[in-house]
Amino acid sequence: MDAFAIDWLNLLFRWAHLIVGVGWIGTSFYFIVLDLTLKKRDGQAVGVYGSAWQVHGGGFYNVEKYTVAPDHLPDDLVWYKWEAYLTWVTGFALIVLQYYLNAKAYLIDPKVMPLEVWQAVSISLLSLVAGWLVYHMICKLFLGRSTFILAVCVFIFVVGMSYLFTHVFSGRGALVHVGALIGTMMAFNVFMIIIPNQKKTVASLMVGEKPDPTLGKIGKQRSVHNNYLTLPVLLMMVSGHYPMITNHPHSWLIVALVIVMGGCVRHFLNLHEADQYAAEKSSENYKWVLLVAAITLMAAIVMTAPTTRDYSQAKQVASSEILAIAERHCVSCHAAQPTNEAFEEAPKAVILDTIESWARYSPLIKAQVIDSDVMPLGDENGMTAVERDTIGAWLNEQALKD
Ligand code: HEC
Repeated sequence: MDAFAIDWLNLLFRWAHLIVGVGWIGTSFYFIVLDLTLKKRDGQAVGVYGSAWQVHGGGFYNVEKYTVAPDHLPDDLVWYKWEAYLTWVTGFALIVLQYYLNAKAYLIDPKVMPLEVWQAVSISLLSLVAGWLVYHMICKLFLGRSTFILAVCVFIFVVGMSYLFTHVFSGRGALVHVGALIGTMMAFNVFMIIIPNQKKTVASLMVGEKPDPTLGKIGKQRSVHNNYLTLPVLLMMVSGHYPMITNHPHSWLIVALVIVMGGCVRHFLNLHEADQYAAEKSSENYKWVLLVAAITLMAAIVMTAPTTRDYSQAKQVASSEILAIAERHCVSCHAAQPTNEAFEEAPKAVILDTIESWARYSPLIKAQVIDSDVMPLGDENGMTAVERDTIGAWLNEQALKD
């Protein structure tokens, strides 16, 4: 497909993905707070569990929750499910547009594994399907048993998959697949488990039967997972802009830290919100959860700190050497008219065919080429360590000049 058409589709799907994703996470956060603020009040109808007062946009709202379900289902009942489904659909479309159609640039890194495009795409699709099935099996196995052990198993599973992804795909491709796997688990939890179980429960109630209590238990288990995975999945989805994470040699370990960090922040918020709205304040001290989050954050920062290389002994680098490297490894994409068919114009408008432009972009080049090895993207011509060091020495000279 034409690069221009792909770019437009990419933009539109990304826009839609953000909108429905914000909707999904927004409603999820909203209902957590709603559940926590419900109170039993005098004069409530039979079957009402509690109600909450809220104010928003200049209006006052009094929302009631039923213990199980009302006697008659209203025709205009709103199901919160499309946000989740559409987040997955638009996300998958983005993977196709960005990572499958431009697999050589974004998904495959010959240094990691020299895959053909069809192989990379097949692995990607298979890993998402198999990932969901394995996760689903783990959840079934641990239903009704220790939540902590289940959480540890899901954690090990996701980190294990991250390890595999980082040994198969490019740095950026790997982390977006971690995000896609978690996102698939979350969206399919809604699609395959939570909503169908809710429908079955409602159907039993409507015919006057007692609903199977395990349906509710299963739904609850998955919705707790979704709650804790929300924050980590978001970081994975934006990680592509941060080479210090995607191209860290042990980026799967950073994934592990991010899951613990995001999970802890969510846990803290859950406990804090519950406490804030409770009639009696709990005496439990849960600030340690934030401490764990802070420690994992520090560990991630320390782990990704760039190693400063010593170029003081390096010989002076001539501009012609840099331009020769640029010719071999950069300008197929970073030119006014790229020859790489994936690009209609220079990515991020970074054109690297003159020494002046190299000087102008030198801090960015350092981040992409020296502090990490994101560029050259896809590394088709196999940049050597000597070439990278030559760029490093030249950038160092530039930095000393400034
Ligand atoms: C296969 C195409 C391709 C090649 C080859 C390539 N780049 Fe890039 N480059 C890209 C793309 C795509 C982006 C935008 C990445 C993004 O979306 O974050 C980019 C972004 C950049 C940026 C901007 C980063 C930012 O944060 O704004 C710099 C600097 C850069 N490349 C330097 C280089 C250098 C130096 C080389 C050669 C050693 C190189 N690139 C080779 C495709 C390429």
